[in-house]
Amino acid sequence: MFLLSAFVSAAVASQVSAAVVSGKASSFAGSTSTFQFPPADVTATASLIDSFFPDASEVGFAGPTPTGDEAESIATAPALSPVKGYFPLVRPNTSDKKGKAFNVVDSWANLSPMQSVRSFGLDNTTEKIPEGCKLNQVFLLHRHGARYPTSGSSPATFAANVHAAAGNGTFVATGPLEFLNTWTYKLGAEILTPFGREQLFELGIGFRVKYGDLLKNFTGLPVWRTTSEERMVDSALHFAAGFFGVQSYQSSYYQLIEIEQDGFNNTLAPYDQCPNANNNISALGGEATAAWTNVYLVDAQKRLAPFLPGFNLTISDVAAMQTLCPYETVALGYSAFCDLFTEEEWKGFAYGIDLDFWYGDGPGNPAVSAQGIGWVQELVSRLTQTTITTFDTTVNGTLVSSNITFPLNQPIFVDATHDTVISAILPAMNFTSLAAGGPLPLDHIPENHTYKVREISPFASRLVGQVLSCPASDTPTHIRWVLNDGVLPQTGINGCGEDPNGLCQIDTFIAGMKQRIEEVDFDFDCFANYTFSLANDTITNGQFPK
Ligand SMILES: *[C@@H]1O[C@H](CO)[C@@H](O)[C@H](O)[C@H]1NC(C)=O
Ligand SMILES: *[C@@H]1O[C@H](CO)[C@@H](O)[C@H](O)[C@H]1NC(C)=O
Ligand SMILES: *[C@@H]1O[C@H](CO)[C@@H](O)[C@H](O)[C@H]1NC(C)=O
Ligand SMILES: *[C@@H]1O[C@H](CO)[C@@H](O)[C@H](O)[C@H]1NC(C)=O
Ligand SMILES: *[C@@H]1O[C@H](CO)[C@@H](O)[C@H](O)[C@H]1NC(C)=O
Ligand SMILES: *[C@@H]1O[C@H](CO)[C@@H](O)[C@H](O)[C@H]1NC(C)=O
Ligand SMILES: *[C@@H]1O[C@H](CO)[C@@H](O)[C@H](O)[C@H]1NC(C)=O
Ligand SMILES: *[C@@H]1O[C@H](CO)[C@@H](O)[C@H](O)[C@H]1NC(C)=O
Ligand SMILES: *[C@@H]1O[C@H](CO)[C@@H](O)[C@H](O)[C@H]1NC(C)=O
Ligand SMILES: *[C@@H]1O[C@H](CO)[C@@H](O)[C@H](O)[C@H]1NC(C)=O
Ligand SMILES: *[C@@H]1O[C@H](CO)[C@@H](O)[C@H](O)[C@H]1NC(C)=O
Ligand SMILES: *[C@@H]1O[C@H](CO)[C@@H](O)[C@H](O)[C@H]1NC(C)=O
Repeated sequence: MFLLSAFVSAAVASQVSAAVVSGKASSFAGSTSTFQFPPADVTATASLIDSFFPDASEVGFAGPTPTGDEAESIATAPALSPVKGYFPLVRPNTSDKKGKAFNVVDSWANLSPMQSVRSFGLDNTTEKIPEGCKLNQVFLLHRHGARYPTSGSSPATFAANVHAAAGNGTFVATGPLEFLNTWTYKLGAEILTPFGREQLFELGIGFRVKYGDLLKNFTGLPVWRTTSEERMVDSALHFAAGFFGVQSYQSSYYQLIEIEQDGFNNTLAPYDQCPNANNNISALGGEATAAWTNVYLVDAQKRLAPFLPGFNLTISDVAAMQTLCPYETVALGYSAFCDLFTEEEWKGFAYGIDLDFWYGDGPGNPAVSAQGIGWVQELVSRLTQTTITTFDTTVNGTLVSSNITFPLNQPIFVDATHDTVISAILPAMNFTSLAAGGPLPLDHIPENHTYKVREISPFASRLVGQVLSCPASDTPTHIRWVLNDGVLPQTGINGCGEDPNGLCQIDTFIAGMKQRIEEVDFDFDCFANYTFSLANDTITNGQFPK
């Protein structure tokens, strides 16, 4: 197996150099290349480990191991460092303004690496605990790290089209597209990339440094949650490894893995129990993106098509090529597709994904608040220390009825989820300021555009709830929410009002969440057979208009 793949790689490599020399397309252009390590028939052997590779506890001699005190930089540092940068990814150029200040990486929307958001409108506050307040508890809801494309998405289809044409001998790429003659599709599907693992490991470390002091108030081990998909488990474990360290994370907490699959109740994967999240209602997002793509990529299609004579380069192909830029970059570190596009086209790309989320997974979709509301019920349960007894959403009654799998009294809660779940929970909680610009137009980017998926659901996105006492005491008085390090205004939540620090009285907030639970009609919005189209979709609260 191992020898065979080595042989195949060598064969491909010699074809690559032949094609480069002749400047012609190779028949393997666009083919999918894969590699697996360790090879399928090679595994670490227990007997070898026992005899020759004892672990650190068996070897002993660890040297002195005094532990320091816990950190709480979220309260103690005069200012905090933003997350900025994405080592080891190479920052791409645009095709028109090489080397200029514009950063293509900022235009990848949900495919962007998380970087700190400066402000959601509260310009004079940061995630640092406000003066005069004490941190009592923290909630973290985070997305998984950078992944390969989801199964069957456009990058793989584009590669297959190229490969079919290459097999026909009709594929010759020239000019800026010449690289396609020897390009192969190296991406897997669904699982984390190495960079994605780094993101979650760093999130775990960052969270320990900011909030670690809260560990002192655990009486047992933390119970943190994720879902069963490979990338979700991998993300949760990398977070824990960063938070606790690789030698001790497995014995420092319990990892709950909730089944993510059609028919299973799971607030971290609610679309599996919401039919309207999987039909023509959820398809509104894709429709909106398609309409916009036919506007913003017209020039690119005309510019690039002449370099692929004999290949019918459609606007969908061009969109797939643009999508390959972020996916290849977060997986392979670099992508030749990135600088095929202009600055305007990159802004258009980001807006296309903003449209997809707005109409498919955000405030403009009528089945979205319904998907987010189960997590809100769990939040209220945790904040009020009250067990959930009515099961009328995506809450999993079995799991939340046990104080082992759903403890209510943790100083630090950590839930791992997906981009579209974070984007559903925000309107479910009535963070209306994110939707203040109103419905998004399909034919231009509005000047007052505020709904940016890069700020909401990038790879390794994080929504943090800070439970505070102001003035400092052991009884919480306030709560506020921090999305990707930017403080969210809570003006949309009844009674919270305007606050320069984004604070809301905790009782007011809980009453608001209970009211949202009443306002959101889970059964109707998720299950009813209603008609809704982009032509009359002006909603901004993620609910079917009643
Ligand atoms: C971007 O363009 C600048 C200026 O031409 C160049 O120095 C840099 O190497 C380019 N970066 C990439 C990734 O191509
Ligand atoms: C932030 O503070 C500055 C200086 O005090 C003030 O001019 C500005 O209006 C404030 N911005 C907001 C959004 O409150
Ligand atoms: C942790 O619990 C102790 C004892 O109840 C209390 O004094 C302390 O303030 C708590 N710490 C936090 C951060 O809430
Ligand atoms: C390859 O050739 C076949 C047969 O001529 C044709 O039907 C098909 O469209 C070609 N494919 C491409 C991608 O050019
Ligand atoms: C609740 O979650 C558990 C564990 O993931 C699963 O076995 C069970 O089937 C779920 N219940 C429902 C109703 O989905
Ligand atoms: C190219 O593709 C488009 C979209 O699929 C199709 O409408 C058009 O007929 C094709 N043109 C040729 C020359 O095959
Ligand atoms: C699962 O959710 C449905 C509502 O979607 C609810 O009727 C059912 O009771 C829930 N089951 C459990 C075990 O939580
Ligand atoms: C969990 O629930 C059991 C049974 O209801 C109870 O005996 C136990 O004290 C609870 N444990 C905690 C930590 O609340
Ligand atoms: C945003 O701009 C659109 C028109 O471009 C306008 O209809 C809408 O009221 C504006 N919204 C805000 C919050 O300014
Ligand atoms: C949520 O926002 C809507 C629209 O602004 C408002 O009508 C509703 O009362 C709000 N609900 C809560 C609980 O804040
Ligand atoms: C929804 O309603 C339409 C129009 O009444 C009907 O054609 C369709 O079969 C219904 N779909 C379901 C799943 O009931
Ligand atoms: C939206 O328009 C469709 C027709 O495209 C219509 O059937 C539907 O009732 C409308 N829905 C709402 C909520 O107005």
